[in-house]
Amino acid sequence: MMREKWLGSLLLLLFGIFTRALGAFVGINIGTDVTNLPPASDIVAILKANQITHVRLYDADSHMLKALSNSGIEVIVGVTNEEILGIGESPSAAAAWINKNVAAYLPSTNITAVAVGSEVLTAVPNAAPVLVSAMNYLHKALVASNLNFQVKVSTPHHMDIIPRPFPPSTATFDSSWNSTIYQLLQFLKNTNSYYMLNAYPYYGYTKGNGIFPIDYALFRPLPSVKQIVDPNTLFHYNSMFDAMVDAAYYSIDALNFSGIPIVVTESGWPWFGGAKEPDATVENAETFVDNLIKRVLNNSGPPSQLNIPINTYIYELFNEDKRPGPVSEKNWGVFYANGSAVYPLRLGASDQITGNSSVVFCVAKPGADSDKLQNGLNWACGQGQANCTAIQSGQPCYNPDTLENHASYAYNDYYQKKHAVGGTCDFDGTATTTTVDPSTGSCKFTGSSSSSTSGGLSPVTALGPTTPLDGSSSSILQAPKFLYLMSATFLVLVLLCPGGPSSFLPS
Ligand SMILES: *[C@@H]1O[C@H](CO)[C@@H](O)[C@H](O)[C@H]1NC(C)=O
Ligand SMILES: *[C@@H]1O[C@H](CO)[C@@H](O)[C@H](O)[C@H]1NC(C)=O
Ligand SMILES: *[C@@H]1O[C@H](CO)[C@@H](O)[C@H](O)[C@H]1NC(C)=O
Ligand SMILES: *[C@@H]1O[C@H](CO)[C@@H](O)[C@H](O)[C@H]1NC(C)=O
Ligand SMILES: *[C@@H]1O[C@H](CO)[C@@H](O)[C@H](O)[C@H]1NC(C)=O
Ligand SMILES: *[C@@H]1O[C@H](CO)[C@@H](O)[C@H](O)[C@H]1NC(C)=O
Ligand SMILES: *[C@@H]1O[C@H](CO)[C@@H](O)[C@H](O)[C@H]1NC(C)=O
Repeated sequence: MMREKWLGSLLLLLFGIFTRALGAFVGINIGTDVTNLPPASDIVAILKANQITHVRLYDADSHMLKALSNSGIEVIVGVTNEEILGIGESPSAAAAWINKNVAAYLPSTNITAVAVGSEVLTAVPNAAPVLVSAMNYLHKALVASNLNFQVKVSTPHHMDIIPRPFPPSTATFDSSWNSTIYQLLQFLKNTNSYYMLNAYPYYGYTKGNGIFPIDYALFRPLPSVKQIVDPNTLFHYNSMFDAMVDAAYYSIDALNFSGIPIVVTESGWPWFGGAKEPDATVENAETFVDNLIKRVLNNSGPPSQLNIPINTYIYELFNEDKRPGPVSEKNWGVFYANGSAVYPLRLGASDQITGNSSVVFCVAKPGADSDKLQNGLNWACGQGQANCTAIQSGQPCYNPDTLENHASYAYNDYYQKKHAVGGTCDFDGTATTTTVDPSTGSCKFTGSSSSSTSGGLSPVTALGPTTPLDGSSSSILQAPKFLYLMSATFLVLVLLCPGGPSSFLPS
């Protein structure tokens, strides 16, 4: 009995780690060019109230890092662009930085990555020659403190270093950066780190001067004759976001690197702009962010890397009213400084995923107390009248043979049948709702549409990043015009020649 219980707990623990490591996440950037920035403790309260589990800071502010301790929130800290030169020239400066800004807060503040600078190659090219040395020195300092397994080092890039992102299969990095990017990729590969990408469909769309349909930028379905297809791979790109991420994967591939996951350190949409920025509206921002969350939490990667989830940090928590530039530049925040939302941020478990948002599933909470889960399972299959046939040995939902999986099935069956007459998804706090269909293979959860096989609980292959990396704060720069011209040309061909060049296949 004792032994079984121990084994059960171990299984649960392993299962918890497994599902956690594999699930995609959406985090948020916290820029601080804000007139009335709330105190750090209030910021953390806003994060918690909105179920935000991952944040990226643009610096290593001690108040924020203290306030984030024991919050369960994972944190990317930032080396500012101004700090890079010093660190890149001095291993001891790097060690001092790590001691002061990382080691001093671990483990109570869960720092998982150091983002070295922000869009360094495009924003401060004079720091580019020492960027990789700075990263190396910081990594060595982490090794010396035995923190290199918990804390990764990377650097966020602007999309501009990939001059022609469409079609994705032919994308390459700007060749003038060859040697820096080559060294960088070697560093990321050797240290098991990630490529940090800032990907803004807003700019892809607005600089396209009306040639891209806004639906493509907002993740809305396109009419079938206007599907965006890569002529070389025949992959369909449902969203500009996917195309941007794949362009980065293909660019990495073109330098013969593989196995380096991409984390999107910034993506978002401004909700207010000047007279010449008509697309910066609350409605568009809400649509973009909502669909981005659904897209990311469906756990799939872009077409060329389906098994690598696209963990993403929304840009950004607050409006940064002190930022220079066009009106839109100051209006990316999801929240006002007083904590009220500009538009709802639907990150909660009950709002995960897409596909068919009309179906809500009820599943066991990962890591829930095993005794309570067992009680809940017994109750659901007994008094609750759930049909528990499918989780019996030899039946389609028996595997994985864990309490959590079996409870999920039973909770959900109960919930689908009894919800309409007042049944709740609680089970003594061990249950949670989700719109992610938990079905896998022939195991269909009640309520699942028969064709759906996606899955919150389904194993997704193991390459996915388990921690984010991040990038820099600032600049959302304008892409060079030719990028958009090339993209536009590609799109025009697709749009205007549906039956045209045989390499463009409208579906
Ligand atoms: C910190 O985050 C990592 C990465 O997700 C996770 O494995 C670890 O359990 C977290 N640590 C704490 C103390 O929460
Ligand atoms: C950069 O690398 C690409 C691909 O390997 C190559 O075609 C190009 O000539 C290189 N450019 C420079 C400036 O080295
Ligand atoms: C990548 O590998 C291919 C095949 O081995 C080779 O032809 C090409 O020159 C390599 N490219 C780079 C940038 O090393
Ligand atoms: C928060 O600030 C915004 C913008 O200034 C304002 O519209 C809103 O009413 C405020 N909310 C609260 C609860 O004070
Ligand atoms: C969503 O699910 C409902 C109920 O299962 C079903 O009737 C509807 O057709 C589904 N919609 C889509 C778009 O799959
Ligand atoms: C219970 O579910 C099984 C499939 O898992 C099904 O074959 C059976 O008919 C169901 N029983 C009832 C009473 O609905
Ligand atoms: C996840 O999103 C991708 C890209 O939009 C889409 O191709 C895929 O079908 C989605 N998967 C599920 C299970 O919804």
